[in-house]
Amino acid sequence: MKFFIDTANLEQIREAYEMGVLDGVTTNPSLMAKEGIKGLENQRKHYIDICNIVQADVSAEVISTDYEGMIREGEELAALNPHIVVKVPCIADGIRAIKYFTQKGIRTNCTLVFSTGQALLAAKAGATYVSPFVGRLDDISEDGIALVGQIVDMYRYYGYTTQVLAASIRSTRHIIQCVEVGADVATCPLSAIKGLLKHPLTDSGLQKFLEDYKSING
Ligand code: E4P
Repeated sequence: MKFFIDTANLEQIREAYEMGVLDGVTTNPSLMAKEGIKGLENQRKHYIDICNIVQADVSAEVISTDYEGMIREGEELAALNPHIVVKVPCIADGIRAIKYFTQKGIRTNCTLVFSTGQALLAAKAGATYVSPFVGRLDDISEDGIALVGQIVDMYRYYGYTTQVLAASIRSTRHIIQCVEVGADVATCPLSAIKGLLKHPLTDSGLQKFLEDYKSING
């Protein structure tokens, strides 16, 4: 399973990249706002900075909700760097725009996906990635991981090549559950990725090895 980091914070992106296990980055307008990146020029420079750090897929989201606006924005974003993946909301004009981008060879991430029906449309339009939002479904007492599993099964059954990118991941447990249902990618906060390392037996085992080494070597 590939790991993307779900942030626009350059320090966190660098830290995850230096761990050596990072396959890409997802951003969204809320994550950009959290970093206080104001103005179109600064936002575009920020996307380029992220691409230069990771040299891997970086999802950059369009703001337009109409077909023509999405096409214009998406083409501008894609021209910034070859690593940019244009993130498009799962609405009617968005599906149509994904179809257009697919025909033009521009890679896409269909975002704000909350049902298998939406994921079916994204795959039929040729999306590179589909992003079911796990945490936001859990927040309303639905089962986000179950949806990821259903989409994985549907794509395998029909042979769609769209990759299932589990988004809105809130915990380390969510990452393990994504593995269990066969997600292609999980985009996660840095804390959830780091949580995978934690095990008390690793800590106590390492401590004992170091103590025993010291006992014979001073
Ligand atoms: C990433 O592609 C999504 O925009 C992001 O994971 C949403 O996460 P949230 O539900 O925690 O805002």
